[in-house]
Amino acid sequence: MLLYIHIPFCDSKCFYCSFNSYTKKHYLKKEYIKALLKQLDFELKKIKKNEIESIFIGGGTPSTLEANYYEEIFKKIEPYLKKDIEITIEANPNSVKKEWLRDIKSLGLNRVSFGVQSFDEKKLKFLGRAHSSKEAISAVENAFSVGFENISIDLIYETILDTKELLEKDIKIALNLPINHISAYALTLEENTPFFNRKDVKKDDESLGYFIAGLITKKFPQYEISNFGLYKSKHNLGYWMLKDYIGVGAGAVGFYKNQRFYTQNSLEDYIKNPTKKEVENLTNEDLITEKIFLGFRSIVGVKKDLLNESMLKRAQILIKNGKIYEKDKKLYNKNLFLADEISLYILQ
Ligand SMILES: C[S@@+](CC[C@H](N)C(=O)[O-])C[C@H]1O[C@@H](n2cnc3c(N)ncnc32)[C@H](O)[C@@H]1O
Ligand code: SF4
Repeated sequence: MLLYIHIPFCDSKCFYCSFNSYTKKHYLKKEYIKALLKQLDFELKKIKKNEIESIFIGGGTPSTLEANYYEEIFKKIEPYLKKDIEITIEANPNSVKKEWLRDIKSLGLNRVSFGVQSFDEKKLKFLGRAHSSKEAISAVENAFSVGFENISIDLIYETILDTKELLEKDIKIALNLPINHISAYALTLEENTPFFNRKDVKKDDESLGYFIAGLITKKFPQYEISNFGLYKSKHNLGYWMLKDYIGVGAGAVGFYKNQRFYTQNSLEDYIKNPTKKEVENLTNEDLITEKIFLGFRSIVGVKKDLLNESMLKRAQILIKNGKIYEKDKKLYNKNLFLADEISLYILQ
């Protein structure tokens, strides 16, 4: 069982971001955490002790919350944690302080993921980021100096400002930091963001993905389209294996067996009723489709026995053409960037 905890507060809103987060509702923090603890109580009743194998605290910006809030959360979930649990928290370079990092580490968190996006000042401004390149570098160094061994950074590419030179600089700086993981996302133009519908923000150049993957994989192997690491996140791998997960917080998503659960997005509604959820029922066909998409996007691969006869025939064609390969009754993708095309071809 995995656990996702959503912290929906940000200091400012980046121009590309459609995550469920609010910049003017910090006054609700206390009530929000109270509600979140209520939902946790409700969810934890359904699981056994020592069952949670990984936790991801995401946002929003979890580093906008003081460490004492996390203390309350961890008091509650402690009995449910497995021994070698991975616990990741997202942090934004402008709000993270060394003391905060030290405090959350002492609570048992063992992985930090910084939203860096770029080390280029012009690109940071263009994206609407609230931090400088220098702040991003010292945030990572601070995390390392207080003892975090697993540090990841997020980068964004395919913006209109990206050239091979700029990206080469970004990756060079990143690889010189004490990190063991990079998530590199191609910019997507999301609805209800200032970037949506703008024609002058995204560079449509697929070769940039291959270019940065070529640079990052010199140090960190690629284990999903956007993820590279000497250390592979258990939580990420759990999602791609379609393991069950609990989602707590406003707008968090949970998954159990063949159902997906969605809590309410609005903070006020969530605070009033934190256990109210919309339920989506997934058919067996839906689950197979998801397993195929997720398996080919990552090194998880796809169990052959999930495929029907005609899918298997098409998979054989892809094996012959050298696009995928078979090992121990599973199919694996050779080029993760082609994942969607491969899945669509097999599912057609
Ligand atoms: C919840 S945010 C990160 C944590 C923290 N709030 C921060 O920004 O520092 C997760 C990551 O998703 C990525 N992301 C969000 N919106 C995106 C978009 N429209 N296109 C590409 N990547 C995006 C960014 O790299 C971001 O760091
Ligand atoms: S990218 Fe991070 S900091 Fe920026 S708005 Fe989204 S969640 Fe907030």
